[in-house]
Amino acid sequence: MSNLILNEGYYNNNNFFEGGSGSKIFLKGRRILDLSFCAGSLLLGHNSKIFIESLKEIHRKKISSLASPNLQANNFAKLLKKVITYKDKFIFCNSGTEAITKALRISFSISNKSMIIATTGSWHGSVDNLLFSPDKMLRPTPISSGILNSHKQNLKFIPYNNIEKSKKIILKNKLKINCIIVEPMQASLPLHEAKNYLMFLRQISKKHNIILIFDELITGLRTNGSTLQNYFKIKPDISTFGKCFGGGFPIGIIGITKKVYQNLSKKNKKVFFGGTFSANSISTYVGMRTTDYILKNKKKIFKKLEKFSSLFENTMNNFFKSHMIPAKVYRFKSLIRVVFTDRLTEEGSRGNFFISKKLQRVEKIRKFLQKKNIYIPSNGLIYFSDQTSLQDINYLIKNLKLAFKT
Ligand SMILES: Cc1ncc(COP(=O)(O)O)c(C=O)c1O
Repeated sequence: MSNLILNEGYYNNNNFFEGGSGSKIFLKGRRILDLSFCAGSLLLGHNSKIFIESLKEIHRKKISSLASPNLQANNFAKLLKKVITYKDKFIFCNSGTEAITKALRISFSISNKSMIIATTGSWHGSVDNLLFSPDKMLRPTPISSGILNSHKQNLKFIPYNNIEKSKKIILKNKLKINCIIVEPMQASLPLHEAKNYLMFLRQISKKHNIILIFDELITGLRTNGSTLQNYFKIKPDISTFGKCFGGGFPIGIIGITKKVYQNLSKKNKKVFFGGTFSANSISTYVGMRTTDYILKNKKKIFKKLEKFSSLFENTMNNFFKSHMIPAKVYRFKSLIRVVFTDRLTEEGSRGNFFISKKLQRVEKIRKFLQKKNIYIPSNGLIYFSDQTSLQDINYLIKNLKLAFKT
């Protein structure tokens, strides 16, 4: 029977995961090593102690779902100020997609210019303005039906990490550009050396009065309990966060600098941020408790994550080299991607999580791992959590090697 659900992954699939605990998720009586952790949201793993405690506290303290201004959201914002130090005000919503949509709305209300500059390889969720991928000439091509042509006309791509080419495109369009949006550390290819490029984006955007937006959905909190902007000391005008900050509950957060806030106030701009569950008391309570725990235990948590992540990276890359397998592990902190090619210079390929010609091989590897009770998501992004053990990592390494050999 065909499936009732049209969301990605449901079509032609009768394997529905039932739950999870620690580093494992459950499927028909099997305990499967999870490498997704709710698309990178569960830094503390499935059903962590703090998650369960938060739910019990919600019950005990009678914290109900509140759409009206509530203490929980206010307390969370105070805590966020300590982590996201470059930001002055926060707006809560329910997903990364919503955060990006509203970040763009803020940006468009600051100036009348209408062009968005996006970088190749960045992903910003289900936002109509940005649901495009660049072709070889960097022209935007929609990746979904139903995207209005007007979005295409207002979008230009620049090649991530290529200062020369990006500069040319930005200078050519400088009077039309409203904002530059970038996933500063790209999940599609995490590169440490991105700092120079991000500094260039900051300089050129400042010079030409262009808003700079950092999409830190993944890097927020996962960067050693801080943010990438703090880590690199670069101050974008608007930033978006979510995932780990929700501790397993849906959340999106927009942070704006004092300057952006003053700009909106000065021009008396009223930007609409409403939504039934925006700043709701349950998500913000669990988010606050999780963030607080992570901050208080950050040395221990991130030391272990770094140790295990680098063990995985080094062991696999040595294996690929010694067996002359054209693959490589790219990593930033505990965000990891195995790329099934050793040639990754063409800009266009960054956006594709798996190089299309190799798709069949990748699917084979995924299926092999699934038989060994390891779940790797189809976009190839691997996350480890605080509950991923050394035993898990060794088991993963052993079976990934076997998968490549077979
Ligand atoms: C960098 C980045 N931005 C935006 C999004 C969209 O977030 P959401 O899926 O919560 O809408 C994602 C989701 O994976 C993401 O990784």
